[in-house]
Amino acid sequence: MRAMITGAKGRLGRALIAQLAERGAEVCCLERKAARHHPDVCQRQAFLDLARQERPTILLHCAAWTDVDGCARQPERAMRVNANGTRNAAIVAATLQIPIVYVSSNEVFSGQLGDAPFQEDDRPQPLNPYGRSKWLGEEALREIWPLHFIVRTSWLYAHGGRNFTQSMLQAARAGRPLRVVTDEVATPTATTELATAILALIQTEAYGIYHLVNEGSCTRFEFARFILDQCGWAEIEIEPILRADWPRASTPPAFSALANQAGKRLGIALRPWQEALADFLAQEERGLA
Ligand SMILES: NC(=O)c1ccc[n+]([C@@H]2O[C@H](COP(=O)([O-])OP(=O)(O)OC[C@H]3O[C@@H](n4cnc5c(N)ncnc54)[C@H](OP(=O)(O)O)[C@@H]3O)[C@@H](O)[C@H]2O)c1
Repeated sequence: MRAMITGAKGRLGRALIAQLAERGAEVCCLERKAARHHPDVCQRQAFLDLARQERPTILLHCAAWTDVDGCARQPERAMRVNANGTRNAAIVAATLQIPIVYVSSNEVFSGQLGDAPFQEDDRPQPLNPYGRSKWLGEEALREIWPLHFIVRTSWLYAHGGRNFTQSMLQAARAGRPLRVVTDEVATPTATTELATAILALIQTEAYGIYHLVNEGSCTRFEFARFILDQCGWAEIEIEPILRADWPRASTPPAFSALANQAGKRLGIALRPWQEALADFLAQEERGLA
């Protein structure tokens, strides 16, 4: 296998590269600002030229503008990168006649608290520009190239970089007051576990839509509480607030938990989110990150 990865320096891209390397797979990356590879997913011809030169056997499309508040402030840029960038990735995969994995988001859905987790064939109804741009990326891929895996996931965390987990720990260490919302539900997901699941999925030819998240769901508040409790800071208080108390440019869906039905039918399931997060936090504490 020779995998081309977009968004190679991102949270998920790094996990995929590490696991592909362990398996002895060849990897080529499309990274903005890289010394050798300049194209951006928005530059279709350069993206195509690079792919023709590198001859990947699969395209793992992880690049996105993931700043959801930025996407709300600049929706045209969100569309350019997330929707049109995915259209370009689909054209590249179709031109090379290779399968593509497109990583999409829980934010294509908008539900109410108390709803059942969304299944793969539920109808998306994005609430905000980020969710809309990810959904339009899915639509473009479906229209252009059938050999696709659309993998929706949520609340990714990874060692290094900017993450909710590290933000909570940094705030606790600095003694800053913590306020976290109780009316936003999804599933924290470890990039390492998602990468393993994606690499299992691409061994199949079972193209389609998948919800790959750690098992279960929680509120943002419960996510934050779990992080502090695991790290020995049970005494640190977190003020429970509502989304309305935390004005931001983007409105996250109240409920966007995903049910992994399709992956489980292929034997691909992730652990409960608490187990994965506890292991991740233990590694962070031991400085293994
Ligand atoms: N993070 C989450 O909680 C979450 C949840 C659900 C779904 N997802 C989806 O999962 C995928 C991976 O997310 P992630 O958390 O790994 O994202 P990330 O850490 O924000 O990384 C995104 C990567 O995409 C690159 N990128 C952005 N615009 C680009 C462009 N125009 N051309 C080429 N590369 C570009 C970025 O490069 P620069 O560093 O140069 O900007 C970065 O390396 C994304 O598709 C995201 O929408 C993420």
